[in-house]
Amino acid sequence: MEYVKIFDTTLRDGEQAPGATMNIDEKVRIALQLEKLGVDIIEAGFPAASDGDFEAVKMVAKNITKSEVAGLARATESDIERAWEAIKYANKPRIHTFLATSDIHLKYKLKIDREEALKRAIHAVKFAKKFTDNVEFSAEDACRTDLDFLCKVVEAVIDAGATTVNIPDTVGYITPLEFFNIISTIKKRVKNIEKAVISVHCHNDLGLATANSLSALLAGARQVECTINGIGERAGNAAMEEIVMALKTRKDVYNLGTKINTKHIYRTSKLVSQITGMMVQPNKAIVGANAFAHESGIHQDGVLKERLTYEIMTPESVGIPQSILVLGKLSGRHAFKKRLEEMGYELNEEQLNKAFKRFKELCDHKKYLYDEDIDAIISEEILKLPEKYKFVYLNVVSGNRTMPCATVEIEIDGKVIKEATFGNGPVDAVFKAIKKIIKTKSKLLSFVISAITMGTDAQGEVTVKLEEAGRQVVGKGVDPDVLVASAKAYINALNRLYFKKEANSMREMLP
Ligand code: KIV
Ligand code: ZN
Repeated sequence: MEYVKIFDTTLRDGEQAPGATMNIDEKVRIALQLEKLGVDIIEAGFPAASDGDFEAVKMVAKNITKSEVAGLARATESDIERAWEAIKYANKPRIHTFLATSDIHLKYKLKIDREEALKRAIHAVKFAKKFTDNVEFSAEDACRTDLDFLCKVVEAVIDAGATTVNIPDTVGYITPLEFFNIISTIKKRVKNIEKAVISVHCHNDLGLATANSLSALLAGARQVECTINGIGERAGNAAMEEIVMALKTRKDVYNLGTKINTKHIYRTSKLVSQITGMMVQPNKAIVGANAFAHESGIHQDGVLKERLTYEIMTPESVGIPQSILVLGKLSGRHAFKKRLEEMGYELNEEQLNKAFKRFKELCDHKKYLYDEDIDAIISEEILKLPEKYKFVYLNVVSGNRTMPCATVEIEIDGKVIKEATFGNGPVDAVFKAIKKIIKTKSKLLSFVISAITMGTDAQGEVTVKLEEAGRQVVGKGVDPDVLVASAKAYINALNRLYFKKEANSMREMLP
């Protein structure tokens, strides 16, 4: 059976989703999980976009040993050099350079003609080859590019040394049959096509990203670019879990394999959603909370008699835990450590002590702890951001006949500041008190509260999205008390705004 290379761009195109910016530690954490999942290539970022991106790509390159690590670069010498400087630490580095090829992009965006575009594409690939043999070229907006010209570009960049040629549907415009024809034509007409792998990269503006990617694989593409949970620009990118599970479940149609260990899909999805703050919709294929839930009586009856009646794949095959109950008040340090290891966390002694202390504190509030609680402990205690603003104390008075009032203490540069204020509701009072201390000009775009596990003693998880000067950030807070979780989430988002001032400054150049 032939294999399809899985090129994951969660850390690059996925991160371009509004508010989904990640810090360096978070990127490395996701990259390590992607490697465990078995992805062939991890696109770690766009090093020329900002110093933050550069550092993140460098750290991913240093930490990843099995997967290839790609860095994106526009078709310019400076971008390519910068990409190489970041990815050169990887065991298997790849330079991914791109240039738009459609007339719309050439005329309005780049203001160059086809001849110049061809020249630049060839030069970029030749220049990248000076650093590594592993060079990918993307013809941005390929699906709206004149097909004769696209074939010409593909042939030329392969001659120049590209080992992968990517055909992106940058604006999510193409339909499955059309895409099949584009890839088939490239396969037929480009005479040196056997020297390179054909890749596809689909956006989901019409909800067709997965279907288009699969159609291209049927036509002969052998690399697919995708993101976990389908996150990405606008409506997102093709979702990796959907493509991989379609190939696995419908082997009879595709007869193509991947190196993905599908049992790690669920945890990877959780991790990405937890870090980016982008929730997975309940009816999302493969990883949504309802993806394997049978609600109707007829379906439940059928599944109980024979799973195959209504289930085309099992929850176990994507790693959805069957029994997620893990630990309780009486669990000792050893059991806690073992569960952490099973979940893929490797902590040193000091980190373990810290996490275990928090675990015990939590056990005073909750009878049982679940994997999600452990994830929250690790996020809050071990992987937390550097903090300009430290949450110290919260007291809220609220009720049906009381004007809600919140008192908040926050430590800033070693000094604890206290403020109290009234609000329309308790959350409003908490946020107003925090604003009095931090004096933020940011706008609250969304506030979502949910329980991270089942039961009335579940921890509340609050996600807030803030915007300031065109930058969006997502903050999270978890606590058995939902008002404390709200305060933590708001302060977390304000810390992200503080430390990420430059992260979005180069967004305008992102593809
Ligand atoms: O959507 C796109 O065209 C891209 C390319 C840079 C691959 O993201
Ligand atoms: Zn893209």
